[in-house]
Amino acid sequence: MWHFVSTQCFLLCLAISALARGEQSIKRTVPNGFVTTRGGEFELDGSPFAFVGANSFWLPLLTTTEDVETTLQQMHGAGVKVLRTWGFNAINASELDGALQSNLTYYQARIRSLDAIWNNSDWSLNDGPQGLQRLDNVLKIAAKYDIRVILAFTNNWVGYGGMELYIDHVTPGASFHDVFYTNPRMIASYQRYVTTIVNRYKDSSVIFAWEMMNEARCLGDLPASSACSPGSGTLGKWYQEQSDFIRSLDPYHLITTGGEGQFYWKNPTNPTLASDYNFNGQAGEDFDFDLTLPNIDFASYHMYPQTWYPQLDFPGSDFSVEGWGLFWIDAHVAAAKKAGKPLILEEFGVTGLTNKTQIYPSWVEHALDTNHGIMPWQFGALGLTENGGNRLLKYTDALIDGASPNDGYAIYKNQTSVWNIFTYLLSLL
Ligand SMILES: *[C@@H]1O[C@H](CO)[C@@H](O)[C@H](O)[C@H]1NC(C)=O
Ligand SMILES: *[C@@H]1O[C@H](CO)[C@@H](O)[C@H](O)[C@H]1NC(C)=O
Ligand SMILES: *[C@@H]1O[C@H](CO)[C@@H](O)[C@H](O)[C@H]1NC(C)=O
Ligand SMILES: *[C@@H]1O[C@H](CO)[C@@H](O)[C@H](O)[C@H]1NC(C)=O
Ligand SMILES: *[C@@H]1O[C@H](CO)[C@@H](O)[C@H](O)[C@H]1NC(C)=O
Repeated sequence: MWHFVSTQCFLLCLAISALARGEQSIKRTVPNGFVTTRGGEFELDGSPFAFVGANSFWLPLLTTTEDVETTLQQMHGAGVKVLRTWGFNAINASELDGALQSNLTYYQARIRSLDAIWNNSDWSLNDGPQGLQRLDNVLKIAAKYDIRVILAFTNNWVGYGGMELYIDHVTPGASFHDVFYTNPRMIASYQRYVTTIVNRYKDSSVIFAWEMMNEARCLGDLPASSACSPGSGTLGKWYQEQSDFIRSLDPYHLITTGGEGQFYWKNPTNPTLASDYNFNGQAGEDFDFDLTLPNIDFASYHMYPQTWYPQLDFPGSDFSVEGWGLFWIDAHVAAAKKAGKPLILEEFGVTGLTNKTQIYPSWVEHALDTNHGIMPWQFGALGLTENGGNRLLKYTDALIDGASPNDGYAIYKNQTSVWNIFTYLLSLL
C-alpha cells in the first residue's frame, strides 16, 4: 500500500513539476540522433541542444562537390551545428534553356510548350544530377560534419521558385497572393512537393526540421485579397492544415512555420502598435496563435529592423535599431514561454561591418540568454573554386573571386570583428 501510494505520488509529482516548468507538450519518442523538443528547449539524445547556426540558401546551387565540402567544412570550423537552406528550387518555362546551359540547380520545372512537365497545372520533378541529387549531396556532406539542416518547402517571394510560380502554373492570371492558401488545387500541388521531399529524407537524422514556407504573408509580389485580413485566420488555418499533413507523413522530425513572426495583437498596451504591420495582423501571421498549433513544434522568426523601419523611428517612440531588436526578441520569448515551446531567431541581420559589430553582441547575447537557437543571415564562404570563383548563381547572386554571394548581410571569416562575436558567444554554449 505504502509502495502503491508512493508510486502514484511519484508519477503525479513528475507531472505536476513538468507542468510547473511549462512543459505542456508531451514529448515524442524519436529515433537516436533526431533533434526533438522538451518544454522550451531543443534536445538531442536526451541532452539539451543549444546552437548557433547559419543560413545558406545558395549551397545547393553549387555544382561541385568540392565547393559544397569547403563551405560545410568552414561552417563546421565556425561551430555551426544547424544550417538552414531552401528545399525548393523551381523554374518557369522560359528559364529552362538557360538552366541547362548554366548548370543551374532546379527541382521543379514546367515546359509550357511541351505541356508535359508542368502540364499547364502542375510541375514535374527533376531528381537527376542537376536536380534533387544536389540537395542529396548537401545533406550527405552536412551529415559528415555533424550539421543538421532546416529545409523550407517554398518561398513567399519570387526567387528560386515560390508561391507566385505555383500561382502562375495552377491559377494563371490570379490577382491575389493569398489564393495560394485556399485554392484546393494549389494545396494539392504544394502537398505533392512536400510529400516528395519528406519521403526522400524522412528517415535521416540530418534533417533538423521541416519548414512550411519562407516568410509566409498575405501579400507577396501579388497583393493580398480582402479575405486575408487581420482576424480572418487564413494563414493560421493553412499552417494548421499543412503542419498536420507533414506530421501525417513523418512522425518524428520537428516542424516549424518559417515565418517572420508577426503578431496579431488586438489590444496592445502601447497603442502605436495597433497601426504597426508587425503587430496588427495585417501581415497574415498571428504568432501567439500559430505557436499553439499541435504540430508546430517550435517558434521561428526573423528580424530586420533596418529595412522594416527605414527611418529608425519606431512609431511613437525613439527606439534604435538595437533597442527595437531587443524588444522584438522579448516579445517572442514571452509568446514561446506561454506556449512552452523553444524558439529560433532563424534570420536576422544589419548591413555594414560597423553596424554588425555594434549591434550583434547585444542581440546575440540576449537571444542566447533567453534560450534561443540563433541563425544569422547569412553565411559567407571563401575559397570557392567554381569557374575560377566567378559564377552567377541566379539573378544577382554570384560567386566572386571565390566568395559566396554577399547581399550586405554575409559574414565572412576574414571579417574578424564580426566573426569573433559568434565564435566567442559559441564558446560559452
Ligand atoms: C554541371 O555540374 C555537374 C555537377 O553537378 C558536373 O558534373 C558537370 O560537369 C557540370 N556541367 C557543366 C556543363 O558545367
Ligand atoms: C521566368 O522567370 C524569369 C526570372 O528568372 C522572369 O524574368 C520571367 O518573366 C519569367 N517568365 C514567366 C513567363 O513567368
Ligand atoms: C496532362 O494532363 C492531362 C489532363 O489532366 C492528362 O490526361 C495527361 O496524362 C497529362 N500529361 C502528362 C504528361 O502528365
Ligand atoms: C548602418 O545602419 C544605418 C542605420 O540603419 C544605415 O543607414 C547605414 O546604411 C548602415 N551602414 C551600412 C554600411 O550599411
Ligand atoms: C574578405 O573577403 C571578401 C570576399 O572575398 C573581400 O571582399 C574582402 O575584401 C575581404 N576582407 C578583408 C579584410 O580581407
